[in-house]
Amino acid sequence: MSVDKVLAWVEAHDKESLDNLIEWLKIPSIGTDPAYDAETRRAAEWCRDHLHGSGFEVDLVETAPPGGRGQPMVFGRSEAAPDYKGPRVLFYGHYDVQPPDPLELWDNPPFEPVIRPAEDGMGERIVARGAEDDKGQVAMFLAAMRGWKEVSGLAAGGVPITVMIEGEEESGSVNLERFVQTHKDELGKCDFVLISDTTMLGRGRPAITYGVRGLVYTEITLHGPDHDLHSGLWGGKCPNPLNELSKTLAKLWDDDYRVTIPGFYDDVRPLSDEERALWKNLGIDEQAALKSVGLGPDGDVGEAGYSMTEREWARPTCDINGMWGGYTGEGAKTVIPSYAKAKVSFRLVADQEPRKIFDAFKAWLESNTPKGCRWGEVIDHGLGLGVTLPVDSRELRAAARAINRASGAEAALIKSGGSIPVAGLLKQDLGLDTIFMGFGLEDDRIHSPNEKFEVECFRLGTRSHAVFIDEMWKLGE
Ligand code: BES
Ligand code: MN
Ligand code: MN
Repeated sequence: MSVDKVLAWVEAHDKESLDNLIEWLKIPSIGTDPAYDAETRRAAEWCRDHLHGSGFEVDLVETAPPGGRGQPMVFGRSEAAPDYKGPRVLFYGHYDVQPPDPLELWDNPPFEPVIRPAEDGMGERIVARGAEDDKGQVAMFLAAMRGWKEVSGLAAGGVPITVMIEGEEESGSVNLERFVQTHKDELGKCDFVLISDTTMLGRGRPAITYGVRGLVYTEITLHGPDHDLHSGLWGGKCPNPLNELSKTLAKLWDDDYRVTIPGFYDDVRPLSDEERALWKNLGIDEQAALKSVGLGPDGDVGEAGYSMTEREWARPTCDINGMWGGYTGEGAKTVIPSYAKAKVSFRLVADQEPRKIFDAFKAWLESNTPKGCRWGEVIDHGLGLGVTLPVDSRELRAAARAINRASGAEAALIKSGGSIPVAGLLKQDLGLDTIFMGFGLEDDRIHSPNEKFEVECFRLGTRSHAVFIDEMWKLGE
C-alpha cells in the first residue's frame, strides 16, 4: 500500500478538505446549551456521514440517561485487511465546541468561518469557533481517512480503527463513563488511543504530548443572614458572607503559592531531575509567553521552586474561576449579601485522585467555616483524571516516525496543563494508554473570541495522520 499516493491525494485535495472543515464549522454545536441540541446533533450527523463516505461503518449512539440529556456519540469502525497484523487503534475526538461568548469581540461571526491571510506573525488561518478545538483537528484525521479510502479502496487503508467522536467534551463528558462501560467489548479490542486535541511547541515544531492534567471543578456557597441587608444598619454587626468567603478562600495558598489543603500533595508524582533537564532543553521562551498575554517578567507568579513550564506540566494548582454575591450591577447599592458563591477548580497531576481531592476540599471548607455562617451544597461540575504516559512505547515511537516523515522535523516530547478527561477514563476502565498527536499552536485562542487554526498546521496534521496509517502496518511486519 503506497503512502506516497495518499500524500499526493491529500495534497491535491487540500481545498476540498478545508471546504469540508468550513462546512462543519458552520454548524453551531454548542453542546452545553440545550437551545443548540438540534444543531449539535446535526454536527454529529455531518461527521457520521463524512466517515461513512470513507468506508467506515458508523452510527450515532444515544448517550442520554432515561429522562435526561445527552449528545450522540459518533461511533464507527473500520475492518482490518486480511494480512494486517498491527494494533487496533481507538481514535477519539470531540465535535462539540465552547460557547462563543462574548460575541462582540469576534472580528467575524463565530459560525461563519473565514480564511485570513498571513499577518502579524501568524500564518494563513481559518477563524471560527471550533476551528482548532476540536473540529479542525478531527478534520485532519477525516481528510487522511478519505485519502486512504480513495487510494486503497479500503477504509483506513485496512487498519482497524474504532472511532469515538464525543459531543460533551467541553461540558464535562457527563455521559462518557456509562458509554465506555456499555461498549466495553468493542473498545476493549483496541490496543491504544489516538487523540488530536493538543498543541505543538510552536510553528514548525511538532510535538507529542505525553501527559495532561486532571481536573476537579466545584461551585460553593456560603450562607449568612437569611436575606440581603442594609449595609449601614447591619455592616459591622453580623457576618458578611462575601467578606468571609474572600478571607477563607485566601487561606487556600501559603506565601509560596502552595495549596494548604491537608494531603493535597500526597499523591503528586515528583518531578525528576532528568525530566527537568529535558524540558529546559526544549527552548521554551517563558518571557515571550508572558508578553503574549500582556505581562512583564514580574508576571512569573506561582509555586516556589518551579519554572513556569514545570508548574504547568508537573504541578497541581487551585484557581478561583469566578466569585459573586450581593450587588454586581451598574452603579452602587449598599448591601450585606445574604450569601456568597464561588467556582473553585483544581488542576491535578498523576497520581492524584479527583474524588479524593474533592472530598479533601469539602472537609477543608467544613473545618474553615466562618463564624456565624454555613456552607451550602458543594456542587461537583466534573472530575477528570490526569495522565502521564510512557514515552518508550512502540505506538508512541510509531507516531513520532509518522510526524517525522510528514514534516521532516523531530517530534518534541511535551506535556500540557490542559485536561482531556477521556484519557484517564480509558486508562482506568480499560487499561488503554493514549498518544496525544496534536497540531494546535499556543496562540490559537481556543475557548476565546477569534479562535483560529493555521492552514499549515492543518496540512501537517493531515499528512501525519496519513503516514500514521502506514506506520500501523509496519508495526505488524
Ligand atoms: N482540547 C482541550 C484541552 C487541551 C488544550 C489540552 C490544549 C492540551 C492542550 C479540551 O477541549 C479542553 O478544553 N478541556 C477542558 C476540560 C473539560 C473538562 C472542559 C480544560 O482543559 O479546561
Ligand atoms: Mn478539545
Ligand atoms: Mn476545549
